[in-house]
Parts: sequence; structure tokens; C-alpha cells
Amino acid sequence: MKFKNVSFHYEDLPVLDDVSFSVEPGQTVALLGSTGSGKTTLTSLISRFYDATAGEIYIDNHPITDYDIQTLRSNISIAMQDIFLFSDTIEALLPIGVPKARKKTFVWHQRLQVLMNLFISLKKTLIRLLENAVLGFQEVSVSGSP
Ligand SMILES: Nc1ncnc2c1ncn2[C@@H]1O[C@H](COP(=O)(O)OP(=O)(O)OP(=O)(O)O)[C@@H](O)[C@H]1O
Ligand SMILES: [Mg+2]
Repeated sequence: MKFKNVSFHYEDLPVLDDVSFSVEPGQTVALLGSTGSGKTTLTSLISRFYDATAGEIYIDNHPITDYDIQTLRSNISIAMQDIFLFSDTIEALLPIGVPKARKKTFVWHQRLQVLMNLFISLKKTLIRLLENAVLGFQEVSVSGSP
């Protein structure tokens, strides 16, 4: 993926100014910056929640505007900064984003299995953390001895 001279502004607020970088296949990239510096905005441009106001973003050497938006977004996973869950059963919530999964018990069970494995691997760490944890407003901060 490549950002080439990308700029972006919300209405009158300039956020990104002439940003260029490349990410190679298989490479992991972390964006670091103070709050409000534009990290979330930058990633929103990849999913085309907003389009760059100048410059171009490429995936596999094609501008992202050339891709069908559903195809583009179905290849991107996002873990949101703010947690949001619809009020519904786990069975209804798990297939979100993959509508066909609702009918496919196999896919549903696969997702549940992934979730269960995650819980198991987190269990020990969580117990240790929660023993001395202090929860902040809306559980934003968890402090305790690891
Ligand atoms: N939808 C929006 N409309 C207008 N301004 C926005 C919008 N989203 C973010 N901003 C502003 O754009 C700037 C960049 O915000 P952004 O959320 O991208 O920063 P960030 O680096 O992700 O911050 P944080 O570390 O707090 O998550 C901030 O000044 C923010 O107030
Ligand atoms: Mg952010």
C-alpha cells in the first residue's frame, strides 16, 4: 500500500499535509502520534470513509478509488477505539459483516471457537490484572500490577 502526497482536511480543519509512505506486503506498521494528530483520520482514508482532499492512496499499485467499495472494505478489518455492541444475542452479533455466516453454522462455530481460544489465552493475564485493578470512568483505564 502506498500513500502519495496525501492531504486531508475536515471542513476548515487541516489534518494531514502531504503524507507519503509505503507499506510492503506482510509488513506491520504502527502509527504513533499525540492525540488529535490524525492517526484515525489517516486509517479512515484507506477504507474510504473519507477521500483524500489531495494526493492518492494505492493498493497493489491501483488507486483505491478504482476498487469497488464493497470489495475494498471486505478486505479490511477494523478494531474500533471505542467499543460498541448492538444489544442482541451473541449468535446475532458474531456474523455481523458476514451476513451469509448467519445461515452457516460452520462459520458461526468457527468464530465462537476463535473467541473461546481468545478467552482461554487471556484468562490468566486477566485474573492477574483484575486482582489489583482500578477501573476508571467507562472502564477507560485499568491500572494494576501486571
Ligand atoms: N469527523 C470529524 N469531523 C471533524 N473533525 C474531526 C473528525 N474526526 C476527527 N476530527 C479532528 O481531526 C483531528 C485528528 O483527529 P484523529 O481522530 O484523526 O486523531 P488521532 O490521532 O486518531 O487521535 P487519538 O490519539 O485521540 O485517537 C482532531 O483535531 C480531531 O478533533
Ligand atoms: Mg484515534
